[in-house]
Amino acid sequence: MQESLVDNYGRRVTSLRMSLTNRCNLQCIYCHNEGESGSGGEITVDEIARLVRIATKYGVDRVKFSGGEPLLRTDLEDILRALPPLKDISLTTNGTLLAPRAKGLKEAGLDRVNISLDTMDSGRFDLITQRKGQFSRVMDGINAAIDAGLTPVKLNMVYLKGINEDEIERMIEFIRGRPLVLQVIELMNFKGAFKYHADISALEHSLKARADDYKCREMHRRTKYYLNGAEVEIVRPIDNSEFCMNCNRLRVTSDFKLKPCLLRNDNLVSLRGLDDEGLEKALRYTVGIREPFFKAAPVAMPKKSEKVPSEN
Ligand code: 5AD
Repeated sequence: MQESLVDNYGRRVTSLRMSLTNRCNLQCIYCHNEGESGSGGEITVDEIARLVRIATKYGVDRVKFSGGEPLLRTDLEDILRALPPLKDISLTTNGTLLAPRAKGLKEAGLDRVNISLDTMDSGRFDLITQRKGQFSRVMDGINAAIDAGLTPVKLNMVYLKGINEDEIERMIEFIRGRPLVLQVIELMNFKGAFKYHADISALEHSLKARADDYKCREMHRRTKYYLNGAEVEIVRPIDNSEFCMNCNRLRVTSDFKLKPCLLRNDNLVSLRGLDDEGLEKALRYTVGIREPFFKAAPVAMPKKSEKVPSEN
């Protein structure tokens, strides 16, 4: 039987989330600069291909690329073509550079995209992104993604106090009846962004009251609501012991380090210069040091036979 990557808390790693660059053409006021680590050179096509190939030997079957803004990598299509067969390859992007490349990305093997869209108002968009005039390019990106079949297109909306709390209805109307899913994400506190933190509980209650149906997914305690042809998912990372339960992803920084947890930067494992055997060892070692960040409640120990939750 194939060996798998199970950590000391019974959580099986089946997904890699790779940051391809720290560079970004927007500067969102709330951004936690996920891919940031040292200032090493950006991960190469060859490094990605080798790591993913080894990880697939251990049952990893999903890869998500993020950034910074991953479309600033002009070789993203080469990266996609260099990957072994996987169940799901997705991309998290701000969408501004997507339209001209959507079709080619699909042809190169990309399955679907997540596009950051915090507002439907171009003035507010400028305020959030600290750039001018990019909103229409994101709209073009969303349409191009749908046309190219990079679906379902998930729209990431970080819920921001005093900025976009009043736009949920508008967003729901925007996605209804289209291959779009709205993910409303609770703000995580980074660099003083907490002043924008909005309580998402009230929103969740009102959605629950009017939903035709809803279901909870195990990983990252997200709940999905179905509202007459619109699919809305609420993601609550804050102080949520269930957030870490069944977390099945391992992160890779843009300078080729394994990052066991989204919320920690003090336990990265460098992969640069390692041969295939070294990569394999480092992968297993890193899984072994994974710990849930929120430990208030005991973390569930899924049985090996249990179905692994799907990725966002
Ligand atoms: N809190 C929550 N989500 C964040 N993202 C970035 N910064 C934060 C934060 N502070 C997520 C958003 C965005 C994606 C690129 O990363 O979902 O769309």
